[in-house]
Amino acid sequence: MIRFVNRYSSLTHGCETMVIKVAINGYGTIGKRVADAVDAQDDMEIVGVTKTRPAFGCDLAVRKGYPIYCTYDDAEKIAAFASAGYECHGGLTDLLNIADIVIDCSPGKVGAGNLEKYQSAGVKWIFQGGEKHAMTGMSYTSSANHEENLNVEGTRVVSCNTTGLSRTLVPLYNHCGSLSVECTMIRRAADPGDSSKGPINAIKPVLKVPSHHGPDVMTVKPEISINSMAVAVPTTIMHVHVIVAQLPEGHGLTTESIIDMWSNEPRIILMSGGETGITTTAEVMEYARDIGRKWGDLHEIFVWRDGVKLEANTLYYFQAIHQESDVIPENVDAIRALMGTESNWRVSVEKTDNAIAQYNNIL
Ligand SMILES: NC(=O)c1ccc[n+]([C@@H]2O[C@H](COP(=O)([O-])OP(=O)(O)OC[C@H]3O[C@@H](n4cnc5c(N)ncnc54)[C@H](OP(=O)(O)O)[C@@H]3O)[C@@H](O)[C@H]2O)c1
Repeated sequence: MIRFVNRYSSLTHGCETMVIKVAINGYGTIGKRVADAVDAQDDMEIVGVTKTRPAFGCDLAVRKGYPIYCTYDDAEKIAAFASAGYECHGGLTDLLNIADIVIDCSPGKVGAGNLEKYQSAGVKWIFQGGEKHAMTGMSYTSSANHEENLNVEGTRVVSCNTTGLSRTLVPLYNHCGSLSVECTMIRRAADPGDSSKGPINAIKPVLKVPSHHGPDVMTVKPEISINSMAVAVPTTIMHVHVIVAQLPEGHGLTTESIIDMWSNEPRIILMSGGETGITTTAEVMEYARDIGRKWGDLHEIFVWRDGVKLEANTLYYFQAIHQESDVIPENVDAIRALMGTESNWRVSVEKTDNAIAQYNNIL
């Protein structure tokens, strides 16, 4: 039964616009950030977040005023929250019953087990980049394929790396009409709050060649021909991409015009390392903390202006990706696409980013 068709028909009934009810399944690194980004918007609200057990993260949800639900429907697991002093409003099924859409922020490869629950509850669903495109059949980034995602039942917001690659490559592709890209992903070993991963004193090549990161761009922009290799390095704060793109003959671009093009696109920051002294990911993250972003996040992709060089048809550049946060505003835009409430990606991006900026009090 496709329950969501009727459930959502009231969203734009008459002149009144309803507020989209959003559930967050998995309140970890990505889930807590998506929850706050959604909470900042005036056209959507958080109806609940899930925790597997009454542990780290519950206090944050209480402080934010987000109702806590248990990841499971098991009565004993639900009761454990009350024993630990947290009000738990029920299991996942109870949460899905009051939601229009669920954002699955469970650990990678876990989400596939949740899909059936979402479908039988009749809610729309958004997975994250740790899940495979083959599982969702649809993927999303704001600049690449918002329109294709309008009114679909579910999608996957691509990974932080794929989101970052799309931000700079899609406008280039849109100008050139074809693009062939080779890139190397220098990846952070673990998130700052994760003590279980490494390496801590080694450089670890991803021996599956090519790596999945580049080709994943083709799930949102199949016209871009792209391959990648990856290495993990002992840092927790950002990824760096080393990108070499072949532009077609007659592209009509210069190094400066490419920089101008990116300057006019949303969610890209261009700065000169030489002029600003921001020459490594450490200073990029310090800059994010200086401008008052919550958790020190940087939703934008950071491109070093003085590291961009076009020689004939070959473009060279570096970009840095804040892995924990570039996908966050994309989830908000994806909600509007799936719910069919905003068909223009640029309008959605502007609305999302303004609301987050006000919420962070950094306008
Ligand atoms: N971290 C990044 O840099 C990053 C960037 C882009 C995309 N992503 C993707 O985003 C997704 C989430 O990653 P993350 O880094 O946020 O992971 P995380 O920090 O480990 O958080 C995942 C949360 O999901 C909860 N959980 C565990 N099993 C679950 C289940 N069966 N159903 C629902 N929730 C469950 C966990 O439980 P507790 O309640 O026990 O805490 C945890 O809080 C993954 O697909 C990942 O690949 C991550």
